[in-house]
Amino acid sequence: MTLLEVDQLVVDYGAVRALDGATLSVARGETVGIVGESGSGKSTLGSAIGGLLPKAAEVTGGEVKVDGSVVGSMSARELRALRSTRLGYVFQEPIGSLDPTMRIGRQVALALRGRASRADVLDRLATVKLADPARVARGYPHQLSGGMAQRVAIAMAMAAEPELLIADEPTAALDSQVRDEVLDLVFALAAEAGTTILWLSHDLPAVARRCSRVAVMYGGRVVESGPASAVLAEPRHPYTAALAGSVPGAVSEGQRLVAIPGQPPVLSGASPGCSFAPRCPAVLESCAGERPRSHVSGGHDVLCHRASETVGAAR
Ligand SMILES: Nc1ncnc2c1ncn2[C@@H]1O[C@H](COP(=O)(O)OP(=O)(O)OP(=O)(O)O)[C@@H](O)[C@H]1O
Ligand SMILES: [Mg+2]
Repeated sequence: MTLLEVDQLVVDYGAVRALDGATLSVARGETVGIVGESGSGKSTLGSAIGGLLPKAAEVTGGEVKVDGSVVGSMSARELRALRSTRLGYVFQEPIGSLDPTMRIGRQVALALRGRASRADVLDRLATVKLADPARVARGYPHQLSGGMAQRVAIAMAMAAEPELLIADEPTAALDSQVRDEVLDLVFALAAEAGTTILWLSHDLPAVARRCSRVAVMYGGRVVESGPASAVLAEPRHPYTAALAGSVPGAVSEGQRLVAIPGQPPVLSGASPGCSFAPRCPAVLESCAGERPRSHVSGGHDVLCHRASETVGAAR
């Protein structure tokens, strides 16, 4: 059953086009990793799902549906309800999602929609494996380490057992030891609550290890999506192939993506063709002037003029 449908979404920040027709469909219970270089549009997509785009952004095409309801036509009240009951967000900087002036316990109680007893609050803090929940509850955000603050943010995001958790690089600010523990926690809590995960990341190996599906973004579009193992083992899009194969063995978990020669695009308006064409090792003449259409085969959904060719040919 489809929980999230992003259909040809276009988002502009003034003259900069952040999403250029992004399309993605997520079924209930899936764990989906969205991978792409800086500027590919991951955060813009994540924010658009909850109607959380900054004021500077404008949706100029397409739509997002959560459980069949179009986010763009929701009233302010409906949006608040969507965010408080159906969606949970975890961001890179946990401190940013916590109120610096309020004790942690009170914030967790609010996330539990105000009806929480002290015991409920301590229970919640225990689920994220904080050693001394009572002490954490009494404290303020600045008294926590980054890892502890992220655990609190996760407890709050999961408090209402959301249908969809959007985790935007939730561990990028943490050191590698804490990173794994926090990810284990996110995936365990989501599995327990039946929450679907959308994890936005640069970390291809980590995504492949934990997610059922991977969506690769480039230039504001999802250029390839499919089962995590298939996308990585047999990439169909030359960009995915480059990510999966660039500098063999050099991408280890926790690292940013290894650079592919050239720069990702900053679009102003719709890309006339494939925005990867200037960097593509398998480019054809038609690539620069014709937008690739979705090509579905073997479980992959690929935006590439060469997608119908043999697997791996584009490498
Ligand atoms: N508030 C903003 N104002 C203007 N442009 C923005 C804003 N936020 C994002 N952009 C632009 O939109 C495009 C997509 O950015 P986005 O932050 O969604 O990418 P990202 O994949 O999340 O990158 P990162 O990996 O660095 O987090 C980029 O070109 C970026 O410069
Ligand atoms: Mg981002």
